[in-house]
Amino acid sequence: MSADRPQHKSFPWIRTFIGAAVLGALIVLGAQVFENQLHPVKAGETPPPRVPGAVFPTDTFDGKDVQQPINYSHKLHAGDLGINCLYCHTYARRSRVAGIPPTAKCMGCHTVVAEDKPEIQKLTAMWKKGESPAWNKVNDLPDFVHFSHERHLQKFLLNNEDMNIKDSPDVCAMCHGDMNTVGVAKKMKPLTMGFCVTCHEKNNGPADCTRCHK
Ligand code: HEC
Ligand code: HEC
Ligand code: HEC
Ligand code: HEC
Ligand code: HEC
Repeated sequence: MSADRPQHKSFPWIRTFIGAAVLGALIVLGAQVFENQLHPVKAGETPPPRVPGAVFPTDTFDGKDVQQPINYSHKLHAGDLGINCLYCHTYARRSRVAGIPPTAKCMGCHTVVAEDKPEIQKLTAMWKKGESPAWNKVNDLPDFVHFSHERHLQKFLLNNEDMNIKDSPDVCAMCHGDMNTVGVAKKMKPLTMGFCVTCHEKNNGPADCTRCHK
C-alpha cells in the first residue's frame, strides 16, 4: 500500500534496527550451534523433558510414520545442532498455530550448507520455483475444538520463572513428545479430549466445555 511507504522513509532507523535484530539472531543461533558442538549431547544421556511447577503428562501415543516431501530431521536440526523449536515454529508463542517454517528459513543455511546433497537440491529446486514442500499434517484436531498454542506457552514457558526460552523443547514435549529424537514429525501424544481434560485438572486449566468447544 502506498500509504506505508513514506512512513518507512521517515523512520530510516527501522531498517538499522531490523538489520541489527537479524544479525543478533544469527549470532545467537551461531553461538548455540557452536555450544552444542563443544558439548554434544550423547545418545542416551539426554535427560527426560521436565517443566518445573507443572504436572507433566506421561501419556504416550505411537503415531504412524507420515511421508514428507523432504526427508527433514528434527533429531539433526533441533537435537544435534540445537536449533530452538521457536526459531522455526515462530508463531507458537503468540498465536493459535505454531506454523511450519517457510522454505526461505531453510535456505538461510542451505544455500551454503550441504548444497550438494540430493535432498537439499530437491529443496533448492522447489525454492527457486517459488514453491514450498507440501508438508503433510501430523497432529490435527477436529474443527469443533478450540486450541491455542499461545496460552499454553505463556503458562509453561514464558511466564514460568524456572524456564528459559532454550527450554522450549521441554514444554513442546508435554503435547508432542520428545521431538529431538525423531526425523520428520510423528504424533507421540494422544491429543484426545481425555488427554486435554486430565492435564487441565492437574494444572488448573479451564474445565468448562465451552472453553474447548465453541
Ligand atoms: C498444550 C499442548 C501443546 C503444546 C504445549 C504444544 N503444542 Fe503444538 N500442537 C498441539 C495441538 C493440539 C496441535 C494440533 C492443533 C490443531 O490441529 O488445531 C498442535 C500442532 C502443532 C503444529 C502443527 C502446525 C500448527 O500450528 O497447527 C506444530 C508445528 C506444533 N504444534 C509445534 C509446537 C511447538 C514447536 C511447541 C513448543 C514450542 C508446541 N507445539 C507446543 C498441542 C500443543
Ligand atoms: C541453522 C542452519 C540450518 C537451518 C535453518 C536448516 N538446516 Fe538443514 N541442515 C543443517 C546442517 C548443518 C545439516 C547437516 C549437513 C551435513 O551433514 O553435511 C543439515 C542437513 C539437512 C538435511 C540432510 C541433508 C543430507 O542429505 O545429508 C536436510 C534434508 C535438511 N537439512 C533440510 C532442511 C530443511 C527442510 C530446513 C528448513 C525447514 C532446514 N534444513 C533448515 C543446517 C540447517
Ligand atoms: C529447522 C527448522 C525446524 C526446527 C528447529 C524444528 N522444526 Fe518442527 N518442523 C519443521 C518442519 C519443516 C516440519 C514439517 C515436516 C515434519 O512434519 O517433520 C516440522 C513439523 C513439526 C511438527 C508436526 C507438525 C504437524 O503437522 O503436526 C511438530 C509437532 C514439530 N515440528 C515440533 C517441533 C519441536 C518440538 C521442535 C523443537 C524440539 C521443532 N519442531 C524444531 C521444522 C523445524
Ligand atoms: C500440559 C497440560 C495441558 C495440556 C496437555 C493441555 N492444556 Fe489447555 N491449558 C492448560 C493450562 C494450565 C491452561 C490455563 C492457562 C492459563 O492459566 O493461562 C490451559 C488453557 C487452555 C485453554 C484456555 C485458553 C485459551 O486459549 O482460550 C484452552 C481453550 C485449552 N487450554 C485447550 C486445550 C486443548 C484443546 C488441549 C488438548 C489438545 C489442551 N488444552 C491441552 C494446560 C494444558
Ligand atoms: C480441555 C479441552 C476440552 C474440554 C474442557 C472439553 N472437551 Fe470435548 N473434546 C476435546 C477434544 C480435544 C476433542 C476431540 C477428541 C478427538 O479428536 O479424539 C473433544 C471431543 C468432544 C466430543 C466429540 C466426541 C467424539 O467421540 O468425537 C464431544 C461430544 C465433546 N468433546 C463434548 C464435550 C463436553 C460435553 C464437555 C464438557 C463436559 C467437553 N467436551 C469438554 C477437548 C475438550
